[in-house]
Order: sequence, then C-alpha cells, then structure tokens
Amino acid sequence: MRTSDALVWGVTTKMTTTPQPPSTAWGSLAAHAREIREVDLRSLFADDPGRGERFHLEAEGFYLDFSKNLITRETLALLAQLTDHCGLARRRELMFRGGVVNPSENRPALHVALRMPKGALLVVNGVDVVESVHGVLERMADFATRVREGQWRGCTGQPIKNVVNIGIGGSDLGPKMAYEALRYFSRRDITFRFVSNVDGTDLVESLRDLRPEETLFIVSSKTFGTLETLTNATSARNWLVDQLGESAVERHFVAVSTNAARVSEFGIDPANMFEFWDWVGGRYSLESAIGLSTMVAVGPEQFMEMLAGSHAMDQHFLNAPTLGNLPVVMGLMAVWNHVLLGHPSVGVMPYDQYLHRLPAYLQQLTMESNGKSVTLSGESVVRPTGPIYWGEPGTNGQHSFYQLLHQGTVTVPVDLIGFAKSLNPLGNHHDILMSNVFAQAQALAFGRTAAELTEMGVAPHEVPHRVMTGNRPSNVLLARELTPRVLGSLIALYEHSVFVQGTLYDVDSFDQWGVELGKELAASIVPELDSSGEGPRPHDSSTTSLIAHYIKLKSSEAP
Ligand code: F6P
Repeated sequence: MRTSDALVWGVTTKMTTTPQPPSTAWGSLAAHAREIREVDLRSLFADDPGRGERFHLEAEGFYLDFSKNLITRETLALLAQLTDHCGLARRRELMFRGGVVNPSENRPALHVALRMPKGALLVVNGVDVVESVHGVLERMADFATRVREGQWRGCTGQPIKNVVNIGIGGSDLGPKMAYEALRYFSRRDITFRFVSNVDGTDLVESLRDLRPEETLFIVSSKTFGTLETLTNATSARNWLVDQLGESAVERHFVAVSTNAARVSEFGIDPANMFEFWDWVGGRYSLESAIGLSTMVAVGPEQFMEMLAGSHAMDQHFLNAPTLGNLPVVMGLMAVWNHVLLGHPSVGVMPYDQYLHRLPAYLQQLTMESNGKSVTLSGESVVRPTGPIYWGEPGTNGQHSFYQLLHQGTVTVPVDLIGFAKSLNPLGNHHDILMSNVFAQAQALAFGRTAAELTEMGVAPHEVPHRVMTGNRPSNVLLARELTPRVLGSLIALYEHSVFVQGTLYDVDSFDQWGVELGKELAASIVPELDSSGEGPRPHDSSTTSLIAHYIKLKSSEAP
C-alpha cells in the first residue's frame, strides 16, 4: 500500500494490510482515486478535446469551470453515489424546513430563511420565521434610511458621519467582507469602521480621527456575552461618555443581538436593538441584522438585492440535480481533493480587489463549520474532515506564495474567482487582471516539462529548477460583475458547498465547541496578569514561566 493512502483514510493503523475490495461508496471512490493518481491533467485534456466544455456548470450568474480537477466522468458518478449514500438530499431538505441539523446544540440552522421573500411561509415551532425576518428587515431599513438621510442624529443634533461596528467572528467578518465587497455601491460621505480585536490598538486607531458627535456604534453580538466585543463596547462607551456625557449613549449606540436582557444590562435601550435568532449561526449571520452596517452603507434596496441573490442560489441548491448543482459540485470537488486525493488545504484567490476580505470570511465559514473530529452521532471520524482554507487577492499572491503553489511539494487546490466587467474600468487593467486568472489555472494544470524547457533553449543546469510539474487542481468561478445580487449568490454558494462537505464528512457543521476551552482558560488567567494581584496560580511549568516572565517584563523599565 502506498503512503498516500494513509492520507486518504487518515487512519495509519489500518495501513499495514492490503486494501479490501471496495464495499461502500467511500471504498469505491478510494479505489478509483488510486487509479486516477496514475493519470494527469495533461493526458486527460489531450484525450478529451471537449473536456473544458464538458466539466463546467452555469447557474445564478456564475460559470464554474471545474475541468482542471483530476476527475473523470466516473469520478463524478461515484461522487454522486456518495451523496446518495450520505443522505445529502434528506439532510438538505431537513435544513430548509427548519429541522434540527445542529444536534449538539439541538438547533436548526435556518440562514436560508433570512433571504426568503416576504409572504413566503416557513413555520418552525409554531412561528412563521419569514414574517419575523421581514419584521426585523423593515426596522433595519427604516433605521438605515434615517441614518443615511441625516434624520437619525447624534445627541448634539449633528448627522451621523461615522459608523463603527463592534463585533468579532461572524459578527465582524461577514459585515466587514460585505461592506468591502460592496463599497462601490456604498455612501462615500459616511465612514465605516470595524473593530474586532480586543487589542486596544484596534479601537484606539479606529476612533483616533472620529468626532463622537457624529459617530454611531453598532454593537453586534449574537450572545452579547463575547469578552472581546463587550470589552471594546465598554471602552467605546467610555470614549463617548467622557466627551458627551451619559445621555449621549441612547443616540450613539445600537445593538444587534439575540439577547435583549444582556443588551439592556449593558445600557443600550432594547428599543434600539435589532433582533435575530438562535437558529442563525454566527458565521451564517451576515444577512440577518448583523448586516446592519452593510445596510447603512449600501442602502436597503441593495441589501435586499444581496438577499435575493442568496435566495436564488438557495433555490438552485434545493432543486437542481446533483451533478448540475453548483454548490454540490463545488462541495464534491473539495471532498475529492481533500479526502480522496489527500490535499490538506484549499486556496481561495479572488481576482477582485473588492473581495479582499473574502478569504478571511471563508476561513471562519469553512473551518469553524467543518473542522471537527467526531461525527454527528459523536463517534470519532475515520477520514479527514475540513481542509485548511486560506487566500489573498490573486495577483498579489502570484508575487509571493504562488511559488509554492506551482513548485512546492504539497498540492493546494485553488478557487480562482473573477468577473468579466470591472466596476472601475481603467485602461486595460481589467484584461491584464483576468489574463492572470486564465494563465494561473493553465500553469497550475499543465506546468512545463523538462523537454519543453530544453526545446526553448534553457541551459541544462537551470532545467530542473524551472520544471513545473503541473497537475495541480483549480476551479475557476466567473461572473459578469460584482453586484450585490452576485455577492449574495456567491455567499450562498460557499455556505451550501460547506454544507455538502459537512454532510459527506458526517459532522455537525453548525456548532463550534472547539473555540470554548481557550476562552475559558483565558478568563481564568486574566486576573493572574494584574501585577498588583496575587500572581500566577500553578499551571503547567511552561504556562507558569510565561506568565511570570510577562509580569516581570511589564513592570520593567525600557533598557
Ligand atoms: O468564539 C467563536 C464565536 O462564537 C463565533 O462562532 C461567533 O461568530 C463569534 O464567536 C462571535 O460571537 P457573538 O456574535 O456571540 O459575539
């Protein structure tokens, strides 16, 4: 058995025996993967001139070329069988009707309800959630319009010129990504800032040039119990109160949360709170009231367009057949590359400056969802789950880490995302940008051989350094233009691709217990760091020494 098989199954103890004949959908795929490693993309394209046409999909304004994955028609057929084996259709139906798809927290995950059109009906536990969603959307639209039109004024009567969203994780990454993505459509006479890090620098630098009379804080937290957010919100409140007095809070602070009691305890009038619900996961919350800052930036109409784009992709995901279904096929490519071919990570490279926060947003969406080691029923998983997602805007990456993508010893499948039209046409910038999308996918797939280099007259000693093995997978995702609607569809596309992957991994894609232990330990350590306190309690010897050294350093003079 070859070493790479260990990656396929992630269970080294079983690696000493010869593999048994495949008996399951996973087994058939593993056998097929062993065969397919013997071929490469060059030969697959040479043998099938129509391949680029064949392995593409179009839906909701997107054109996905997935032909540069190491797949054949048989691969797709086997992956489709796997979706049946794993009950994808059943689980998808469960999610859309509000069933419990997050068993460890006993909750539905109903982000699809956030973008259902007004008048649609979805009753969960006796409540029409679509009606609740539109009730909040209307309040958000009213508030956003008043801020944008200068009717919601600060305590001195001045219109709002700065909006500061305070939140972290899903209460920051989504709104920030969407604000940046839709900046072209945003108001330019209002400044938008996003404070997430508990490092005081984040807040201090964000507020440095702002006038409190013109500044509105949106404190965004599903639980309203997140230490970073509450610490930042308290300091922001002090900054405001110090300059304008306690009574200013009412006109300068609003909250977005599921927890009215904590909002009121913090000192924000629940009348200035925009509600959402337990059934919206943090990383799936951008299109709930958590998107309030985005709505203020682009206006209610464009925000609703984004929701319409997501809804259209939801309907496509719900109704399109397995192999004609964009999120399903993207999810299947991810599982194929990760579990069956053993590639540990995925790069997401947007070729659009406005999408520069997309990789950070997708890191939470993908890894907080599928970075799990137990199945839905609590058993240890027997094969790898979520890959590591990362990325940067494409052309910047090309002049840095793409070296490893082309010639490194690990293979990193990439998603390259581009648009046919620039929102800021400037000379031939856009054609240059897009030529890079096509060229990178080509170079990754087909590389350059030693024979080709020699024929080009490359000096023999350089040849080995310049060989590009190729055979490195990519998806290319194209759309016409980055509009709010297209962004909405893109978000839903990735959300559902993550759902497909989670279903095949058999994990709970909607919980995040892994982030809790660190929070708990930090809460117990923080009192020990105060030099006037009792000092460190006994920990393991490494942690104790680190804390002691920190306390010593912070009370020392500069050398
Ligand atoms: O710690 C992780 C997490 O719970 C994320 O899942 C969530 O998006 C983030 O913290 C922020 O949580 P909240 O919106 O409750 O402040």
